[in-house]
Amino acid sequence: MSLVHYEIRDGIGVIRLNNPPVNALSTALRRDIQEAFAAAREDASEALLLICDGRTFVAGADISEFDKPPQPPSLPEVIEQIEQSHKPVIASLHGTALGGGLELALACHYRCGLASARVGLPEVKLGLLPGAGGTQRLPRLVGVEKALKIISGGKPIPAVEAEKMGLLDRVFDTGAADLLPRALEYAREIIDRRAGPRRVGELPAPSAGAETFSQFRQQLDKRSRGQLAPQLIVDAVQAATEQPLQRGLETERQLFVQCRESDQSHALRHVFFAEREAARVDGLEGVEPRPVHSVGIIGAGTMGGGIAMCFASAGIPVTLLEMNGEALERGRAAIERNYATAVRRGKLDEVQKERCLAAIRGTTDYGDLAQVDLVIEAVFEDLNVKREVFARLDRTCRPGAILASNTSYQDLDAIAAATARPYDVVGLHFFSPANIMKLLEVVRGKRTADDVLATAMKLAKRIGKMPVLSGVCYGFIGNRMLRRYGSQAQLCLIEGASPEQVDGAMESWGMAMGPIAVGDLAGLDIGYRARQSLDDEQKGDPRSYCIADALVEQGRLGQKSGAGFYRYDAETRSRKPDPLVASLIEEKATEFDVVRRTFTDAEIRERLLLALVNEGAKILEEGIAQRPGDIDVVYIYGYGFPAHRGGPMFYADSRGLRGVYAAICDLQAQYGGDCWEPAPLLRELAESEMTFAGWAEGNRQF
Ligand code: CAA
Repeated sequence: MSLVHYEIRDGIGVIRLNNPPVNALSTALRRDIQEAFAAAREDASEALLLICDGRTFVAGADISEFDKPPQPPSLPEVIEQIEQSHKPVIASLHGTALGGGLELALACHYRCGLASARVGLPEVKLGLLPGAGGTQRLPRLVGVEKALKIISGGKPIPAVEAEKMGLLDRVFDTGAADLLPRALEYAREIIDRRAGPRRVGELPAPSAGAETFSQFRQQLDKRSRGQLAPQLIVDAVQAATEQPLQRGLETERQLFVQCRESDQSHALRHVFFAEREAARVDGLEGVEPRPVHSVGIIGAGTMGGGIAMCFASAGIPVTLLEMNGEALERGRAAIERNYATAVRRGKLDEVQKERCLAAIRGTTDYGDLAQVDLVIEAVFEDLNVKREVFARLDRTCRPGAILASNTSYQDLDAIAAATARPYDVVGLHFFSPANIMKLLEVVRGKRTADDVLATAMKLAKRIGKMPVLSGVCYGFIGNRMLRRYGSQAQLCLIEGASPEQVDGAMESWGMAMGPIAVGDLAGLDIGYRARQSLDDEQKGDPRSYCIADALVEQGRLGQKSGAGFYRYDAETRSRKPDPLVASLIEEKATEFDVVRRTFTDAEIRERLLLALVNEGAKILEEGIAQRPGDIDVVYIYGYGFPAHRGGPMFYADSRGLRGVYAAICDLQAQYGGDCWEPAPLLRELAESEMTFAGWAEGNRQF
């Protein structure tokens, strides 16, 4: 059956695309579009209207086909055919016209659409550049500077803004049902005006001085350090200013293929699908979530306040509970400050801010939580305190209410056991700052009901989070792995590396922030306090925390006290190495009989990254994470792992598990300890020449 329907309405040939869910330009769709345009060429229609069924105009090339051999017709061929049409062609947009979708629209002679539509070239987020004329046609239409911004930023822009810059010709402030009639009227207007085809490719080549490009490249060096696609995008746009259209298109194609074949693009495409898969819990298909119309949050500290903002911003009323009026007032003031910052940064307007603030009601009375649909506990990280809170919630909340804990380390099953309804208990582990960070670990207890889990996954999307399912273990997916990574960072220090070398090695590889600086940012007292509740065995190798403990005992808690592993400038918060810390590290090395030596950056990276991979393999094998891609999503969205490296498990797969396993065995021989005990799954996969991804796929088929 054809994915394109063609009919003539009032002299206008209407070409309707229907390829759910997002009208991606698969081989079949490209072929059907080509056939429809060929058929329309000689018929009685006076103009052609390209429009889509379903929730959106074309959202791009079909990413799932990128790893398969290319099939004709290529998108550039289809686009060439449309642009060369001798009848005027009008694109009619709704939803999101992205990537190849916008390039298709740029091939049309006129573009109209709904005011609610958004248009963009997000290829850069997949490590690509627009490969079907986008880098050549967009600058001809809107100028070099705007085109560079749109293509290298990848962020879609609203239709109204697109109209202002000449990217759209007409915007309709109406609902989706009226799009076709309004677009037909617009097409009729073009016919009556005898406007004829207006080909973007025939517009004069855009001009810009070499200075514009070199400045833009410099900005990109800072913004997207180490990434290939943004730099090649500038090359492609520059070609539009220097070469005639056909040559520019050829240059663009070569650069596109270079990007498509790059490791970075493979990694980013993996992340695209992993993100979407992570939101699915195997076995929950068809389970009906519970309705959530109101939420209670216990604790108005940094975490509770941030969580309250997530719900209020999504229009869900929140009751925020604290022990006393003073704590409540402090929490409320912090929330107001955060919303004011959002307004200052242009993320919200005053009216939206007031609406959000009005959605948060403070209380000190547990009775006010009696009727809410979901309660999230965000109190002090102590099992007994949490169990008391849950016992009280059990007495207070209505039957069927979901009781969630934001714990980052405690045993969710022990918390659930404090209630007579453990099936209603789930973990919702937000990351700090909760109103900003996208990751949400949804923790399934031994007895969590399926519909509670389904509700949590759905709700996460509603509040704009990226949910990943985790089973119960100390630290769940992310913090359990972080513990290994952090310990290795600390061991590198005592064995001879400096804080700035460890951070520099990881940051130059792409981590948003090095592990030592992250500790200072989070507050060294947090780990210190957490260790107080552990016995010596649980605490692990004392060499991996003795320096941090000594710093906390000297009152150096990290950024918040102006010093931790580094000293911080009060105004700029920039970090500076501290000779006192260097001496402290040496003292501790002497105390623990560690002979210090020099490190290469590569050695540091090897230890930190392989610690993540080995623990990730154990997490996978124990069924704590559903899939390797879920672990990757956790690390990218929660811990600043560079998306263009695909996450720790993808990194290991790309490097080859045989080599990874051998390297871990070497580290075990050199250093010993639990961290380097190779995960049995890793050994098995290495020996059978498999990947984590292949293993997960195989598991699914059984
Ligand atoms: N190719 C293949 N599948 C796609 C796709 C694409 N371009 N875009 C979305 N999908 C799939 C998703 O994988 C998802 O599938 P499942 O339901 O099986 O998980 C489904 O469509 C729905 O997607 P979302 O869950 O993301 O839905 P949403 O409503 O939240 O978002 C969207 C819709 C804004 C279009 C979002 O999917 C998106 O940003 N898509 C990618 C757009 C993009 O990057 N386009 C450029 C492609 S590269 C290109 O076009 C190169 C070129 O120049 C030739």
